[in-house]
Amino acid sequence: MCPISFCIQLSFLVLLLICDSQQTVDPVEPRIAIIGAGISGTSAAYFLSKTTGLNPKIDIYSKDPVGGRMATVNIHGFDFETGGSILHPRNRYMKQFAEEFGFKQKKGISGKFGLYDGSGFVYSEGDWSVLNVASLLWRYGFSLLKVNTLIGDMLNQFERIYNVQDDGYAFSNVADLLSAMDPSFNLMLERTLEEGLKQMGVSSLFIDELANAIMRVNYGQSTDAHQFVGSVSLAGAETGLWSLRGGNKKVPQALLNASRAHFHEEEVEAIHLNTDGRFSLRFKENDEMPSYDAVILATPVTNDTSSFGFENFPRQFHFPGRYHQTICTMVQGEVNHKTFGFADASSIIDDIFTTNRTLFFNSLARNYPVDMDDGEGDAPSVWKVFSNEPLTKEELNTLFSSINETYVIHWKAYPEYDGTISTGNFTLHPGLYHINAIEFAASAMEMSVIGARNVALLAASHLGVDIQDRKAQSFHIEL
Ligand SMILES: Cc1cc2nc3c(=O)[nH]c(=O)nc-3n(C[C@H](O)[C@H](O)[C@H](O)COP(=O)(O)OP(=O)(O)OC[C@H]3O[C@@H](n4cnc5c(N)ncnc54)[C@H](O)[C@@H]3O)c2cc1C
Ligand SMILES: *[C@@H]1O[C@H](CO)[C@@H](O)[C@H](O)[C@H]1NC(C)=O
Ligand SMILES: *[C@@H]1O[C@H](CO)[C@@H](O)[C@H](O)[C@H]1NC(C)=O
Ligand SMILES: *[C@@H]1O[C@H](CO)[C@@H](O)[C@H](O)[C@H]1NC(C)=O
Ligand SMILES: *[C@@H]1O[C@H](CO)[C@@H](O)[C@H](O)[C@H]1NC(C)=O
Ligand SMILES: *[C@@H]1O[C@H](CO)[C@@H](O)[C@H](O)[C@H]1NC(C)=O
Repeated sequence: MCPISFCIQLSFLVLLLICDSQQTVDPVEPRIAIIGAGISGTSAAYFLSKTTGLNPKIDIYSKDPVGGRMATVNIHGFDFETGGSILHPRNRYMKQFAEEFGFKQKKGISGKFGLYDGSGFVYSEGDWSVLNVASLLWRYGFSLLKVNTLIGDMLNQFERIYNVQDDGYAFSNVADLLSAMDPSFNLMLERTLEEGLKQMGVSSLFIDELANAIMRVNYGQSTDAHQFVGSVSLAGAETGLWSLRGGNKKVPQALLNASRAHFHEEEVEAIHLNTDGRFSLRFKENDEMPSYDAVILATPVTNDTSSFGFENFPRQFHFPGRYHQTICTMVQGEVNHKTFGFADASSIIDDIFTTNRTLFFNSLARNYPVDMDDGEGDAPSVWKVFSNEPLTKEELNTLFSSINETYVIHWKAYPEYDGTISTGNFTLHPGLYHINAIEFAASAMEMSVIGARNVALLAASHLGVDIQDRKAQSFHIEL
């Protein structure tokens, strides 16, 4: 149709226009620092280098090994999860990562569980699963079905975030991100799980026993926590839960590799805003002060979890709230069947959840190594106890009749979800972002990845990428 030369000129013009629309991108690859090498930091690095069209040079700094709160302990040659362990079948990003990197799912067996109130079991599963459903229904009746429906609805709304992010939309604060899932989600931050369930007509028995027990095992807290994290917690008691064969921390390790970011085991002491709008980092044990176009905080920054300095910024930052201490005690030994009223050692159930808020432990569960499916192979008998305070010798002897070895891990585990939650900002200053703000809605591995993708989009936008225009090359097409 058109003369050749004109065609060439036209396509040249189009090319120019494209180049022009991206001229704000630093022609040199932008330099980005990420502080924290858990799932938040490593997935942010992955999204930045794989889905934004940037070719960034990324440095990740962490004072602890890659994985952070996804960690294992080795007992007699077998690794066991001590931090984040359970994934939901509808955790889409974690599932996609596992698939992309060729990791297998470790299947859990649904062991028998019981609800212990400090003097006996208010509910305990028998051998026959049909009977179990029947007896759960017998005890909790309609409430069980109601909560099931509630969680299903919530998950449907929650999943809207994946399309929103694929379309390149990002949010500067947590409240707006939750609104994009569903406007009702912010209201769930303003009432307790107990109030929310009561409003839906769920029985007090269900709330006091089952809901409370699930909050205690998942967050070390009670149904006084807000309804959003409470619902995430209840979803974490559904069937089909999984973890990663080989250990969940393989995901952050693989994300770090795939992002080609440079990992530095280094503690960051301060972030300094330079007069040109870029940032410099200062370290605890290193005199260098490298500078960056953008900085991403991928770690909790409340006053009880870390102590960054922010220098030269026009306003002071506030990081309200605090983190809940959860003690994870791994015991290789045998449970004391007498304490729990079992006839003998062989009749002990796998998962003991507790309903009693004054009890010294939150849960006691049989654990299987990360390298085998539950119940497979000849693994040592290992139990995991969650408690809010370190267990005394006496308490350990109450729970166990014989103890071969114990390992104790002190976690600043997840936020304290008491009445005063105000969710914070992802954007602290143009070019400075905080992923873990999302934890005050709910702390979970998938939540971290959603926060990380949001922040990757914000940072890319700051660096001149038209993020909604990048839609065609977005994550869901690549995977
Ligand atoms: C006991 C326990 C059980 C859990 N169970 C589950 C579960 O079953 N399912 C689930 O989905 N989630 C669970 N979680 C929550 C989940 O593990 C976390 O939400 C998630 O791993 C947080 O990842 P992150 O990358 O945001 O933070 P982190 O993993 O904490 O990573 C932050 C990193 O930053 C580093 N850092 C901090 N300050 C500095 C500094 N100044 N300089 C350099 N580095 C610094 C830290 O060393 C740390 O390694 C659990 C958590 C715990 C503790
Ligand atoms: C990451 O890369 C290192 C070094 O190349 C390698 O040893 C390791 O197996 C990789 N880990 C994962 C989980 O891909
Ligand atoms: C940390 O902040 C909380 C409020 O969020 C406050 O109650 C507490 O006193 C603070 N602690 C320190 C050590 O500043
Ligand atoms: C709850 O535990 C405490 C001890 O921690 C005990 O005194 C109390 O009797 C228990 N409550 C019930 C209902 O068993
Ligand atoms: C106790 O631990 C030792 C190694 O420390 C191990 O060889 C032994 O099998 C363990 N005993 C039991 C009963 O598990
Ligand atoms: C969030 O940012 C806004 C300004 O954009 C600020 O007014 C507010 O105080 C910030 N909130 C927190 C918790 O830092």
